[in-house]
Amino acid sequence: MNVVVFRSEEENARAAARLIIERGIEAVRERGIFHIALSGGSTPVRIYKALLADPIFAALVPKTHLWWGDDRAVGHEHNDSNVKLAVEHLIAPAHFPYVNVHPPLSGNADLEAEAMRYEAQLRKYLPADANGLPIIDVQLLGMGDDGHTASLFPGTKALAERERLFVANEVPQLKTRRLTMTLPMLNASRQILVAITGAKKAARLGEIMGTENTGGTPDPATDYPVELVVGNGSNVTWFLDEAAAAEIDIPRS
Ligand code: 6PG
Repeated sequence: MNVVVFRSEEENARAAARLIIERGIEAVRERGIFHIALSGGSTPVRIYKALLADPIFAALVPKTHLWWGDDRAVGHEHNDSNVKLAVEHLIAPAHFPYVNVHPPLSGNADLEAEAMRYEAQLRKYLPADANGLPIIDVQLLGMGDDGHTASLFPGTKALAERERLFVANEVPQLKTRRLTMTLPMLNASRQILVAITGAKKAARLGEIMGTENTGGTPDPATDYPVELVVGNGSNVTWFLDEAAAAEIDIPRS
């Protein structure tokens, strides 16, 4: 896992945008198409702004397809929707073609059916790896202060899922259900970018990356969900800002 600390949220976002654009240029050059999976929360908004500020990203848009690592079980007009967040801050301003946007929810109240429909779309539209798993080129993730990522919350059923790629997940701590990619799907991504900013994350990051953490093989029984997103061992990058990294001792960028 490659960890980089930036002085501010803005620098973090600009670096994340640069990495996304670099991977997008590679994807379009090698495969003629670029697949990104977006996350929710507040961190992506700055990254979207940094993407919009770069003319190279504008040139990538026609070949860029948007997916979501997770979403809440709400309509796209709801303020909790991760799709709404992206429409407002990225998709509309960048004039994404409608056919390039693949939201997890299609309006079916049956969340299991929605999850199966989305998994079928992932399998249909994305190239597959040697194990037949669909490959997202850039998986953009965040971390909640409880160590969750996507909608894989500590102790929830989806965390243990090893066959399905996209599921409806009961989240008792939020008294709700979410839709989320599972670890097999997240870990099959070509590039995993975990962007974590803000003082609220410092304590959890200190626990995860403190001296006692040898960075060895993740243990689902004791590690937080975000620690279980390990990719192929060398394609996971964590971009932090100083506030989030306050309790960890690593070189600053
Ligand atoms: C979601 C996100 C979630 C998010 C973290 C961090 O749907 O809420 O996918 O996993 O990435 O909660 O959120 P912030 O960016 O607000 O810190």
